[in-house]
Amino acid sequence: MMRVVAIDGPAASGKSSTAHAVAQAIGFYHLDSGALYRALTRVALDAAMDPGAINPAELLPIAEQRGLALRVEGDTLSPVLDGTPAEGLIRGPAVTAAVSAVSAVPEVRTWADTAMRALAAEGYPVVVDGRDIGTIVFPEAQVKVFLVATPQVRAERRLMQRGEAADSELVRVEAERLAERDRADSSRAVAPLRKAEGAIEIDGSALSFEEQVERIVDAARSAFRNSTP
Ligand code: C5P
Repeated sequence: MMRVVAIDGPAASGKSSTAHAVAQAIGFYHLDSGALYRALTRVALDAAMDPGAINPAELLPIAEQRGLALRVEGDTLSPVLDGTPAEGLIRGPAVTAAVSAVSAVPEVRTWADTAMRALAAEGYPVVVDGRDIGTIVFPEAQVKVFLVATPQVRAERRLMQRGEAADSELVRVEAERLAERDRADSSRAVAPLRKAEGAIEIDGSALSFEEQVERIVDAARSAFRNSTP
């Protein structure tokens, strides 16, 4: 039986750090699905493709040639590219600006969905965070969470993460950028960001990080109480 905790929500809602802490607490692997889309975007940019006009029949073979896949690294399942962890190559502004367009291509999504489902089917218990995890990738997940926070709170956190001063102008610009990515992710035809049926909605603006993690850990502990590892 697949064991999955699905955490969806808009950009910078704290999904990844929350998912990682939840995974550690319950002994599951953390899978950040956004990292996979970012790695696919890195491959597209390296091949000088126009992110707005991706041909999946070109992109996906190059990704496979470069060995793009999810691998176990400690307690995470992370993308590797050319035999090394892709993490250091996927967080920059060029990838961030292009990733919504690349991830809107249906064949790109199917490829990513297949990679993620294969690992869960192999028996890796996973906490997966993304936009469509509870709706499309793992609708059968035992625990589904929709994590939201106001654009203001998300912008402040994102700036803090980057070590930038959170002055009001920077927060405003960052909040606009996040809102734009939310709009793109929520309005696309394929796998738009939305709350899954049966998902617990958690508003992280009002909770501390620890409280947010604890709410999900509690839900996971009761959902998996009767399942044998
Ligand atoms: O979570 P993160 O900001 O790293 O995700 C980067 C982008 O990848 C998102 O803006 C979205 O376009 C795409 N994504 C997606 N589906 C997911 C996870 C991420 O389309 N499940």
